[in-house]
Amino acid sequence: MLQPLSAAPTAPAASALQANQDLNVLHWWTSAGERAAADLVAARMAEQGLRWVDGAVAGGGGGGAIKVLNERTLRGQAPQVAQLNGQALREWAELGLLLRLDGVAQRRDWRSTLFPQVMSQLNVREHVVAAPLGIHRINNLYLNLALFRQLKIEPPSDWAGVMRAASALRAAGITPVGFSDEPWQVATVFEAMLLGEAGPALYQRMVVQRDLQAFDDPALERSFKRLREWRNLAAPVSAGSGSNQIGNANPGERRWTELVADFAAGRTAMLISGDWVRGELGALGQEGGRDFECKAVPGTAQAHLFSIDTLAMLAGDGSKQPAQERMAELLGNATLQISYNRIKGSVPVRRDVPVDELDLCAQRSYRLFANPGTPRVPSLVHRMAFDEVGKNAFIETVHRFALDPNQTPAAAQRRLQALLRALGPRPPKALP
Ligand code: GAL
Repeated sequence: MLQPLSAAPTAPAASALQANQDLNVLHWWTSAGERAAADLVAARMAEQGLRWVDGAVAGGGGGGAIKVLNERTLRGQAPQVAQLNGQALREWAELGLLLRLDGVAQRRDWRSTLFPQVMSQLNVREHVVAAPLGIHRINNLYLNLALFRQLKIEPPSDWAGVMRAASALRAAGITPVGFSDEPWQVATVFEAMLLGEAGPALYQRMVVQRDLQAFDDPALERSFKRLREWRNLAAPVSAGSGSNQIGNANPGERRWTELVADFAAGRTAMLISGDWVRGELGALGQEGGRDFECKAVPGTAQAHLFSIDTLAMLAGDGSKQPAQERMAELLGNATLQISYNRIKGSVPVRRDVPVDELDLCAQRSYRLFANPGTPRVPSLVHRMAFDEVGKNAFIETVHRFALDPNQTPAAAQRRLQALLRALGPRPPKALP
């Protein structure tokens, strides 16, 4: 019997159609703030009939998520969408594993609406291989304002001020600094200090050009000293000691969300971290300017140490491609950009968004990033400069120094030099 032409799809066909709208997304946004930001994207997708099937892998910084992504891909169970940033994105694109999104980029005019730095992150061999989400600033110093006000301590802007504030806090029984020995967190603090000590030009020579001579500079040794000093400010004030002694801290490998919880509750007063912390503070009901102040790490106020979050679409049998492209289009959308980044703590990737709709901390970060005169330097730890192997080796070197009180800053500098020599010069840009 002939089927009428207008027949509704049969049940299996309808479910196949629905399945094509399901996108499995592998990412590492599992904290309250990160989760809320991801949920917002999922909700916007649902309005368009797309389904975000969650594949979160816990672990700040994404070390665990990248391992799972590798495993799944090797087993032929790759997700359709994955959080792949910077050099990781490049590596996956070079292997031919990612969908090209040139059509989306063209339709949505990404070339003129996105910041050029963002556009260049998305481009590999002249093809757009990911959709952008937000720009994080790494070189932030957060201050718990309630504590600073209550104890009448001057909010610091330089290291001398930090040390003065720390000793006043300690005298009042408050642990001055929140710090974790988790490797990626240690190295995140370190790269912000390196920027402060070296300045953007030297930082650029080290991290982007991998100029071996730049690693001889005494700024590197000073950065290791700062790291040690800062970590020691995390030593808890021992109950009843009433002392202002700063000892050796042993903070242990705590999750970054625990540090944020301590900070929000006034158990610590200062925190150096990327601005995903602001997203988390927002999720805890805290507001910049009222509950906390976001300053730059001393010596870095004029610079923007950035990390750009991007979602790549993995190439499959083609059945999901229309859904993947629609998701990519949505991610670049101006309205989504504002609402997502307000929750996440990062700032929009577009040049044409109404800045006043962002909170004050975000406005500062956005304006700095948008200003062509600002030195914008890439985060090594968050994959903007080195490949996964080099990045992990760098993190490991910094981490070992932090944990070993017998290793001198000069010795740590030598280890980094040796590491850089072993990694070799920066790989040349891939040929088109
Ligand atoms: C970064 C990522 C951010 C944030 C952070 C902590 O690598 O770019 O989006 O999630 O890790 O998990």
